[in-house]
Amino acid sequence: MLDVDWSGEWRKRREEYFWTRRLKEKGMSNEDYWDRYPDELCAEHRKYAGYPGAVLERIKPFVHPQARVLDIGAGDGAYTIPLAERAAEVTAVEPSSGQVRRLLKNAAGRQNIRVVNRRWEEVEREELSTYDLVLAAYCFGMPDIKEALQKMLDCTRGVLFLVHYGGSSLESTYASFIPDYRPSPDYIYLYNILYQLGAKANVELITRRYLYPWALLEKVWRHDHDLTTEQARRAQATLKERGELVAEEDGSLWVKCWYRDAVIWYLREDLHKARSRESARG
Ligand SMILES: C[S@@+](CC[C@H](N)C(=O)[O-])C[C@H]1O[C@@H](n2cnc3c(N)ncnc32)[C@H](O)[C@@H]1O
Repeated sequence: MLDVDWSGEWRKRREEYFWTRRLKEKGMSNEDYWDRYPDELCAEHRKYAGYPGAVLERIKPFVHPQARVLDIGAGDGAYTIPLAERAAEVTAVEPSSGQVRRLLKNAAGRQNIRVVNRRWEEVEREELSTYDLVLAAYCFGMPDIKEALQKMLDCTRGVLFLVHYGGSSLESTYASFIPDYRPSPDYIYLYNILYQLGAKANVELITRRYLYPWALLEKVWRHDHDLTTEQARRAQATLKERGELVAEEDGSLWVKCWYRDAVIWYLREDLHKARSRESARG
């Protein structure tokens, strides 16, 4: 494999990512953003985007009734709750108190969920156990990604799942109204960093196709990007040009979207085998 410093490249690309820069400009942390996120936007978005959908189905067969699960960057519990329905217990690491509040509300009193209200980097290895399944999905705002992934591997005794960005139809629309738009570094960085840590993982790309109400997209963008009327007009024109805007007879507008989730999974047993082969070779 090429001798590329993938975690250094990840750090650079994370700094260039328009969202990282936007939060910095606004003087907001990740936690501020999620603490202030409106509950109704979370719930509405979930109705249309088909997430976690097929990704969750991919993970479920690895969970059994005695399983201990660790969900890193658990958010409002999109995975925590369905996995807690199948496992003995789920530990959810989530630094935003707003997200923890939503997660607990969605969990409706379920007793086998333990919440650690901190960033993954701030959780000491000694505070954690080893888990049959470790999951981290769309939560990789971690400056030292190599260390973060190594800690995930260290507390996995079964399978590690990483879910991250693999592309989206909305990239060109973003670029039409956000002049300094740069997408997030995608899953290939995470895959290669794991590889350099000795973990040759599996990867599957799952593409969700869905229709999203234009009115909701506009609402989300007004919240996230302070979208002006002029920017909304430009975004709509781009969608139209690309044939991604559908007008219904009742006058409602819908956006044809696709979004690709990359599911990376690694069976811990493989790492043990690889390491013992290496030490046998001396
Ligand atoms: C987009 S949400 C994803 C939530 C959930 N994993 C899912 O896929 O539905 C990102 C979540 O990751 C959390 N997060 C961001 N940085 C984190 C970190 N360094 N450690 C743990 N969680 C983090 C955020 O607070 C937020 O709740």
